[in-house]
Amino acid sequence: MRTVFWENNELKMIDQRILPGRFEVLSYRGHKDVAHAITDMVVRGAPAIGAAAAFGLALAGFESASSSTSGLLADLGAASATLKAARPTAVNLAWALDRVMRTAYSVNSSADDMRAAVLNEAQKLADEDVEINKRMAEHGAALINDGDTIIHHCNTGALATVDWGTALGVIRTAHEQGKKIHVLVDETRPRLQGARLTAWELEQYGIPYEIISDNTAGYFLKAGKVQKCFVGSDRTAANGDVANKIGTYMLALAAFDNGVPFYPVVPTSTVDLSLAHGNLIPIEERNPQEVLGLEFEGQRVAPKNAKARNIAFDVTPNRLVTGIVTENGVAYPPFEASLKKLVENKP
Ligand code: MRU
Repeated sequence: MRTVFWENNELKMIDQRILPGRFEVLSYRGHKDVAHAITDMVVRGAPAIGAAAAFGLALAGFESASSSTSGLLADLGAASATLKAARPTAVNLAWALDRVMRTAYSVNSSADDMRAAVLNEAQKLADEDVEINKRMAEHGAALINDGDTIIHHCNTGALATVDWGTALGVIRTAHEQGKKIHVLVDETRPRLQGARLTAWELEQYGIPYEIISDNTAGYFLKAGKVQKCFVGSDRTAANGDVANKIGTYMLALAAFDNGVPFYPVVPTSTVDLSLAHGNLIPIEERNPQEVLGLEFEGQRVAPKNAKARNIAFDVTPNRLVTGIVTENGVAYPPFEASLKKLVENKP
């Protein structure tokens, strides 16, 4: 089953807030509810939120009462702005919405034709995401050797995409190729995407894994027990600086210090060539309650009046990055030239 899909004129999404305890698929009929679902992380992961937003725009088309193409375009434009504001860091959100809006603008026959074209483009984008992930996975799996132990951060699997996954997709493909691999799963505080979602996916694929607390990665890297790190990205700047889930930077530092290759796996839709470097990437800060609400042995950890900061992403500078895996091949330093080539699909 796909993480995000269209069925019976509704958008359906696996509720990622309650996994692995419960598996539920929620239905959406309005774009504002889709925007809330993205903010609340019912759906999460850069490619998955891009696809959800694209289908959200299709819903906005059916919500609009407008019978003229100009009126419908105005309604779609307003819905696109609402959906874009749902989360700031993953560029896939704006990329997907801009792509579907371009399709809307290209239709001038009738409002109903425009509605159909918007839904068709959203569906195309979702289908392409799966195909792109599988191509990326082939390029990435070639970097994995039989017997490798791999550290993985956050969740980048089928749940973070429409299906298959980015970094976890690479691991899954290597496993399907018969390579014996072991995954050390960063639990990924504060929302525990690793311990909850990546572990849940690895169980289903039959890939051996162990969950480690985020601060354990350095221990295993220094002990020589890890051969590679694979992570995803929410936005990669033109120079190869990589924004990804908070904690990725510390992992990359420890990998670099111990000579362990560090590979972000990044569909070209995640590369933002308009940003020269990673300091220009907007970084989301979420509700401190996500940090403060943590319980240990049934009790809230933090004192009642404690304050917290909840920075959701960090930027790994390109000097710590070994190579960037895309659907068009692997980019190596200097990334300014190699990434641009792959994004423009001229390997
Ligand atoms: O806050 P999240 O769970 O949406 O963050 C997700 C990540 O950081 C992933 O690594 C990223 O989206 C790329 S994976 C497809």
